[in-house]
Amino acid sequence: MITLIISTVAFIILFWMFYTKFFGAEYYPAGKRVIDKAIEFSGLKKNEIFYDLGSGDGKVLLSACRKCKKAVGIEIDPLRVLWSRLKTKGKNIEIIKGNFYSYNLRDADVIFIYLRQWTNDRLEQKFLNELKKGTRIVSYYWKLNNLNPYKFDEKLKVYAYRI
Ligand SMILES: C[S@@+](CC[C@H](N)C(=O)[O-])C[C@H]1O[C@@H](n2cnc3c(N)ncnc32)[C@H](O)[C@@H]1O
Repeated sequence: MITLIISTVAFIILFWMFYTKFFGAEYYPAGKRVIDKAIEFSGLKKNEIFYDLGSGDGKVLLSACRKCKKAVGIEIDPLRVLWSRLKTKGKNIEIIKGNFYSYNLRDADVIFIYLRQWTNDRLEQKFLNELKKGTRIVSYYWKLNNLNPYKFDEKLKVYAYRI
């Protein structure tokens, strides 16, 4: 009986850790140096709107919100939405529970992504169709293959693009 309970709990935890991979990427937090570099490369300004697609625990939003008008996260995992909303309460941060493919991103000035290569490939067309001219996209680890970065750090794997 005990073995069954332990296996079930282990299965639920493992499932929770990895199921979002099927929507775009599993959860891995970006480190502080990467976040700082991404925000620096983006040239984020006080009057601008910043998005983190797949905002995880809200850490990227907490760094970005100090430098912009509003930081918006879109996150599919309800537990991470709940946790990040608690962490970011009272700040100029909005966290939307949902799938980023379903949201129109035309009000974005800067978008941060840390996802997977196949997700970047799929998002690239959405970005080209939807974003206003001048929007910057900063991707950590994976590139946007049909755009040329205007800034990049190959060591940190941070790539900045402009529409
Ligand atoms: C690699 S983590 C990055 C978390 C955070 N952006 C960071 O850099 O620390 C990817 C996040 O995207 C979320 N995610 C994956 N596919 C998604 C989708 N289609 N819509 C919204 N969120 C998604 C996952 O739940 C996970 O929290």
